[in-house]
Amino acid sequence: MRVLVTGGAGFIGSHYVRQVLSGAYPSLTDAEVVVLDKLTYAGNEANLAPVADSARFRFVRGDICDAELVGELMSGVDLVVHFAAESHVDRSIAGSADFVLTNVLGTQTLLQGALEAAVGKFVHVSTDEVYGTIESGSWTENHLLEPNSPYSASKASSDLLARSYHRTHGLPVCVTRCSNNYGPYQFPEKVIPLFVTNLLDGRKVPLYGDGLNIRDWLHVDDHCHGIQLVADGGRAGEIYNIGGGTELTNRELTERLLAAVGAGWDQVEPVPDRLGHDRRYSVDITKIGAELGYRPRVPFDEGLAATVAWYRDNRRWWEPLKDRAALVGK
Ligand SMILES: NC(=O)c1ccc[n+]([C@@H]2O[C@H](COP(=O)([O-])OP(=O)(O)OC[C@H]3O[C@@H](n4cnc5c(N)ncnc54)[C@H](O)[C@@H]3O)[C@@H](O)[C@H]2O)c1
Repeated sequence: MRVLVTGGAGFIGSHYVRQVLSGAYPSLTDAEVVVLDKLTYAGNEANLAPVADSARFRFVRGDICDAELVGELMSGVDLVVHFAAESHVDRSIAGSADFVLTNVLGTQTLLQGALEAAVGKFVHVSTDEVYGTIESGSWTENHLLEPNSPYSASKASSDLLARSYHRTHGLPVCVTRCSNNYGPYQFPEKVIPLFVTNLLDGRKVPLYGDGLNIRDWLHVDDHCHGIQLVADGGRAGEIYNIGGGTELTNRELTERLLAAVGAGWDQVEPVPDRLGHDRRYSVDITKIGAELGYRPRVPFDEGLAATVAWYRDNRRWWEPLKDRAALVGK
């Protein structure tokens, strides 16, 4: 069994690889894992250090838009798990060309490579942001795609390409759409690691607008578990939402982070709202629960406490990354 993981040096992809190689997923206990990652500002080989010596692991630095390289790597692959993306909304507002290249053209290059190599399963990791924003209730997988940022528009485009490769060519593709992830090894431009590392340094944290935007929080371990359930048993051509079940306003999240590090509200600096800022995200996870038995397992308070402790204990991991994270967080 060979698994090709794109974007495996990023936050979620590296968690997935560490889990596979530590034997967390029974169907992949003997699997060989090949990571394809360009190592952009968000990619970090240190995220893979715990598994770097595994005989079942191989790292390839390269671009998912490179059709020749993708063609070579696809040979003999049974499963593709596609995480690689430009993933930060604020950066897509500042400039979206890289988002279209990697998220759209890169995904198409991988789908074509997988088709030519007759890969057994292709899991395309997407986001709930493709649905847009929702005042009340939750999105099912059949909801319209109404992305509002260049990031989410590029992800929606890649979802449609994935669907088309299934409908047109019969490629066994599944698409997953998850909510906001948190956990260790997340690049300190996204809101939780940005706020925690700022607070640990005694710096202020930037809170967008009125702070009442609502996000559903999903521990990265629950996300990767959901992805593996889809890889093992998801029906080809289907979309599966993956959520964490904890909806919080950004103000509520900020209060919890301040409490976790013993700081007060005077550390919060209100900043003008993000352009096109989605008000609320909420995914309905009935389908993946009923079909594949998924449910989030990490209670938010425990997951958040462990995450804050990880950043407190791993300053050597994040300090060099702070300079790269010039823009404010997701
Ligand atoms: N983080 C979240 O909360 C979240 C939520 C929903 C969906 N997602 C999706 O999950 C996936 C992983 O997100 P993440 O937070 O781990 O992202 P990340 O930014 O931490 O990692 C992305 C990885 O992709 C690599 N990469 C970027 N462009 C590449 C290219 N052209 N070729 C090869 N590698 C390239 C980077 O080097 C990096 O290692 C993305 O597809 C993202 O859209 C993330």
